[in-house]
Amino acid sequence: MKLRNMLILSFLTSSIVVVLIVWFSISKMYLTDYDGYLIIGITILANILGTIIGLFSLRNTFHSLDKLSKQTKVIKENQFTEIQLEHAPKELQTLADDFNEMVAALADSFTALEKSEQDKSNLVAQLGHDIKTPITAIKNQIEAIQDGVISKEEIDQTLDQMAFQVERLSSLTKQLMEITIMEKALPQSPANQEQKVWLDQFLLKLLSSFDYILRKKQQKLTLQVDPKVKTLMTDEGKLNRILTNLIENASKYSPVNTTIYLKIEAVNGQIIFSIKDEGIGIKTIDQQKIFDRLYRVEKSRNPETGGSGLGLYISKSLTEQLKGELKVESDYGNGSIFRLMLPEI
Ligand SMILES: Nc1ncnc2c1ncn2[C@@H]1O[C@H](COP(=O)(O)OP(=O)(O)OP(=O)(O)O)[C@@H](O)[C@H]1O
Ligand SMILES: [Mg+2]
Repeated sequence: MKLRNMLILSFLTSSIVVVLIVWFSISKMYLTDYDGYLIIGITILANILGTIIGLFSLRNTFHSLDKLSKQTKVIKENQFTEIQLEHAPKELQTLADDFNEMVAALADSFTALEKSEQDKSNLVAQLGHDIKTPITAIKNQIEAIQDGVISKEEIDQTLDQMAFQVERLSSLTKQLMEITIMEKALPQSPANQEQKVWLDQFLLKLLSSFDYILRKKQQKLTLQVDPKVKTLMTDEGKLNRILTNLIENASKYSPVNTTIYLKIEAVNGQIIFSIKDEGIGIKTIDQQKIFDRLYRVEKSRNPETGGSGLGLYISKSLTEQLKGELKVESDYGNGSIFRLMLPEI
């Protein structure tokens, strides 16, 4: 029942009760007829007046309640507008403030959800595109070999190109799996598997995986290790993935015949890995964005570098899991330095 009707009903009930009592009193001769009718008249008049004054003074309350109810319905349609109540009683004002806080929180969550959905569909679209490119290239090359378009002498070169495309596909798949694992595990990131890492053995394994790509671009990699740093306590797998991404970028975004400098030192309770290249560099405006998911600088500039803009995003997340920091410094046109800083435990 509506509040308004409840108010009218309560006044009506009190009038009926008075009329019954007075009627009973008259019939038992406790009251004269005149006094009885007078009391009934006054009671009815008082209740009518009470109803009018009550309805009038509660009009703002009724109005505020209506407004709250309408606003709640609007939220169902994802319109997160706050409510403003004028002249409403204090309790309703408090309710409206709580309501507004809830609306603001809902609006934030909704925006975050929408953004993450958008990001996900961008990611799927981008990866779909990136995966299609090497597959199409491999398919065309296989067809060309089958049709005899490629001469025997060119086959080695074609196989090399196909190997490159397969490499690209496998790196994409790896990144995709990495992202899926990382984002599934959020907000609790996968636990670190800390272990004692012997730096010389670790570096040997890491750097040997770059033999092929460095030789292909005739690039050199020089290594400088602070003799103080022999071991470190960290998650070896995560450290390997971060450094792999950084060295891969250093090679990919540098021209042939350049050098990549890997330096490891202990400074103020931190182990710092710096990867310096003599490559194309990164404009100041892009330096923070490159850590965003799917961000690539001037995508069309260099299609043969063929990346998906995930490497640094993954590296940054892994660095955070290792409680470290990843920073970039770059001189556009002359090269970049990426610094990975890990706590020395
Ligand atoms: N050493 C570097 N020198 C110049 N630009 C770089 C360097 N490292 C990264 N970048 C820029 O930052 C962007 C993002 O790098 P990121 O490693 O995240 O993605 P990617 O290399 O494009 O693709 P992938 O996911 O295969 O690593 C690159 O596209 C490139 O424009
Ligand atoms: Mg990369």
